[in-house]
Amino acid sequence: MAVGCSIMAVVPLLAQYTLAQAGYGGGAGASIPGVSSYVAPAGYPTSAFSSYYPVPSGQEPQPALYDSVLNITYPLNLTNPDTLPDNDPDPLYYPRPIANLSTTAQQAVINSILQQVSEIVNGSSIQGNCSRCIAALSVAKSAAQLAPSLVPAAMVALCTSSGLHSASTCAVDFEASTFGAIWTQVLGLADVSGLDGQYICNSLSSTFCPAPGVSPLDTTGLFPKPKPANATKPAASGKTVKVLHMSDFHLDPRYKVGSEGNCTAGLCCRSNALNTALPAGQVSYPAPLYGAFECDTPYDLGLAALQAVGPLTGTSKENPLGWTVYTGDLVSHESQNELSRLYAEYAEDSVYGMFKTYLTGPVFPVLGNHDTNPEAIDAPHSLPGPLGMQMSWNYDHVAGLWQHEGWLNSTAAGQARLHYGAYSVKNHYGLRVITFNTDFWYRCKCPSFKPRTRTREGPR
Ligand SMILES: *[C@@H]1O[C@H](CO)[C@@H](O)[C@H](O)[C@H]1NC(C)=O
Ligand SMILES: *[C@@H]1O[C@H](CO)[C@@H](O)[C@H](O)[C@H]1NC(C)=O
Ligand SMILES: *[C@@H]1O[C@H](CO)[C@@H](O)[C@H](O)[C@H]1NC(C)=O
Ligand SMILES: *[C@@H]1O[C@H](CO)[C@@H](O)[C@H](O)[C@H]1NC(C)=O
Ligand SMILES: *[C@@H]1O[C@H](CO)[C@@H](O)[C@H](O)[C@H]1NC(C)=O
Ligand SMILES: *[C@@H]1O[C@H](CO)[C@@H](O)[C@H](O)[C@H]1NC(C)=O
Ligand SMILES: *[C@@H]1O[C@H](CO)[C@@H](O)[C@H](O)[C@H]1NC(C)=O
Ligand SMILES: *[C@@H]1O[C@H](CO)[C@@H](O)[C@H](O)[C@H]1NC(C)=O
Repeated sequence: MAVGCSIMAVVPLLAQYTLAQAGYGGGAGASIPGVSSYVAPAGYPTSAFSSYYPVPSGQEPQPALYDSVLNITYPLNLTNPDTLPDNDPDPLYYPRPIANLSTTAQQAVINSILQQVSEIVNGSSIQGNCSRCIAALSVAKSAAQLAPSLVPAAMVALCTSSGLHSASTCAVDFEASTFGAIWTQVLGLADVSGLDGQYICNSLSSTFCPAPGVSPLDTTGLFPKPKPANATKPAASGKTVKVLHMSDFHLDPRYKVGSEGNCTAGLCCRSNALNTALPAGQVSYPAPLYGAFECDTPYDLGLAALQAVGPLTGTSKENPLGWTVYTGDLVSHESQNELSRLYAEYAEDSVYGMFKTYLTGPVFPVLGNHDTNPEAIDAPHSLPGPLGMQMSWNYDHVAGLWQHEGWLNSTAAGQARLHYGAYSVKNHYGLRVITFNTDFWYRCKCPSFKPRTRTREGPR
């Protein structure tokens, strides 16, 4: 599931609070589930984690997190607000070339294709944005098949020279270590003259091709047997159970107290966030300890929200929540060049660990579009060779954590490893929880953050 649009962790709790005010439980004499308001105790709850790196006074804490699945302790510089990386060191996956060309020959292919694309885009031989885009894709496909590793740089050049985006946005969208290698796979493997091409051109710009209509779905064979003709719903037991729905925590372990909380573009409350209306060095709204509207969730805010769950829901260790569903998005919203597998894994380990500490009862989580790397990318197993397993590092990691926290047994964790983070379990109330990963159909239609120069103007 991809929720992907709300920004702050407090949103689900506010929603619950509103329900409480409205008389949760329904009917005469209904009472709110817990206390009607809650103020977290002053100060950071140090017991939330077992060990910390030292930080300058007044800054957010830096837990020294041990990951039981990876058997590593995350290094401080991964999350230190003052050492933001600008390049992702993770492995790149390209489609396997259909011929073995020398580097010189590959460069010649790229030059020839850039020339042909230029003629298609600027010439008069093909009319109409959609036809031009499809024709350009068909030519570019041979570049992805013959010289895959040279395609990202060519895409950056083409994006810049054609004015599709600013030079810096072109770099973040198409350089190899952000989305360039992924785009090369798409070009190399897609049916660019068919429906895939329509989707690709619409995603590049809605002025290129209109969004394709929904294709009819043939459900024959999707289920092993037909729905029983005599199916009836079970009689209600009359008992109620408290279920917590949380989503979009978007932990920012790189949140910098005192940095620009009212920045001009991108994710604010970061050491590199600027308000360009002010002289260099001046800050319009210094990021407070407990977060700000244009920012993701600092530890102080996230832990205050989690401390509020028990009192607001009237639950405790002795009287636990039935269960919690977590509908995805753990990782912060910085630009893709600052992200990495390790950074996503850190957020997974940290947020699930906090849930284990503060939420009573099991949590049934799914992934959101930010909970991977590159963000908003998945790969079906049906892709050829090593490409089919390029995202397994993530499914293996979260499945391991979900089992480690005691939320899934080994059978369900095995399903999650195999099925892109999705699983089916019968919970301790006898209800079957069936999850699936809708990130495969992800397309952001929500208003995004103000884009920063080096920010991809896409997934949220
Ligand atoms: C975990 O890593 C340590 C070294 O960092 C190693 O000594 C130990 O054997 C590893 N444990 C497992 C279960 O792999
Ligand atoms: C953190 O330190 C490691 C080891 O010294 C280094 O390889 C890595 O590039 C550093 N990362 C950042 C974000 O500075
Ligand atoms: C290219 O060369 C590699 C290594 O020699 C070989 O495994 C591969 O089959 C070749 N590919 C093609 C398309 O000839
Ligand atoms: C199209 O022509 C314009 C004006 O000469 C040029 O700036 C632009 O780079 C060309 N576009 C491509 C894709 O070659
Ligand atoms: C075609 O694309 C260009 C950008 O390349 C855009 O300016 C123009 O409005 C588009 N035309 C239509 C009819 O959408
Ligand atoms: C529904 O029909 C099937 C097949 O005829 C039968 O085995 C089953 O017991 C029926 N279930 C109910 C709830 O009537
Ligand atoms: C944020 O900065 C802009 C530009 O300097 C300014 O107009 C606006 O009032 C500021 N907003 C807040 C909440 O400080
Ligand atoms: C895990 O739980 C399911 C019920 O959801 C059960 O069918 C399965 O046998 C369990 N697996 C193990 C290894 O206990």
